[in-house]
Amino acid sequence: MTAGLREMRWWDIEPVLGLERELFPGDAWSPGMFWSELAHARGPRATRRYVVAEEAGRIVGYAGLAAAGGLGDVQTIAVSKDQWGTGLGSRLLTDLLGHASAFECAEVLLEVRVDNTRAQKLYERFGFEPIGFRRGYYQPGNVDALVMRLTTTTDPANPANSVRETEIHHG
Ligand SMILES: CC(C)(COP(=O)(O)OP(=O)(O)OC[C@H]1O[C@@H](n2cnc3c(N)ncnc32)[C@H](O)[C@@H]1OP(=O)(O)O)[C@@H](O)C(=O)NCCC(=O)NCCS
Repeated sequence: MTAGLREMRWWDIEPVLGLERELFPGDAWSPGMFWSELAHARGPRATRRYVVAEEAGRIVGYAGLAAAGGLGDVQTIAVSKDQWGTGLGSRLLTDLLGHASAFECAEVLLEVRVDNTRAQKLYERFGFEPIGFRRGYYQPGNVDALVMRLTTTTDPANPANSVRETEIHHG
């Protein structure tokens, strides 16, 4: 059975928190952080896209994007461990990038732990490129973040880096 993607709503916060604590031990988001994000996800002035993946009534993944002033930021993305490697992370990221286009983002940024090579590979396949580090970004572990960026292409010969071009580029 393939998980279906849909907008995340407030009643998804509890099951999402269950996954969050399992997948981000040490720096899991609080319920308040999700409530605050979802408060900006609806209506004509929405600046957020939060999506969940649901399979047989169970939440198996989620992801969120914030947009402001033509800049998108991947806030979070996570998939239940038993679903890793099935393409669900790619589907969630595709959803976020589609909404980044709708929010008219010229570029999308994200932070990822320097030791999280699996996530980095996912982002690279979508054309994200490393642009720098944020030292000690993840606390309390004091782990550095790699900052990655996807830009709308200005070079028609190289569309791979376009926010609008959200296909996976296996390398
Ligand atoms: C990072 C994360 C979201 C990736 O999710 P995922 O569902 O495993 O991602 P995908 O399946 O799309 O891609 C991962 C791998 O599966 C492979 N894959 C993609 N589609 C596939 C398919 N249909 N069948 C088999 N394998 C597939 C990809 O090639 C990729 O392989 P690789 O590891 O060799 O690069 C997930 O590992 C996760 O939740 N990690 C913990 C939380 C986290 O670190 N989040 C990122 C914070 S910045």
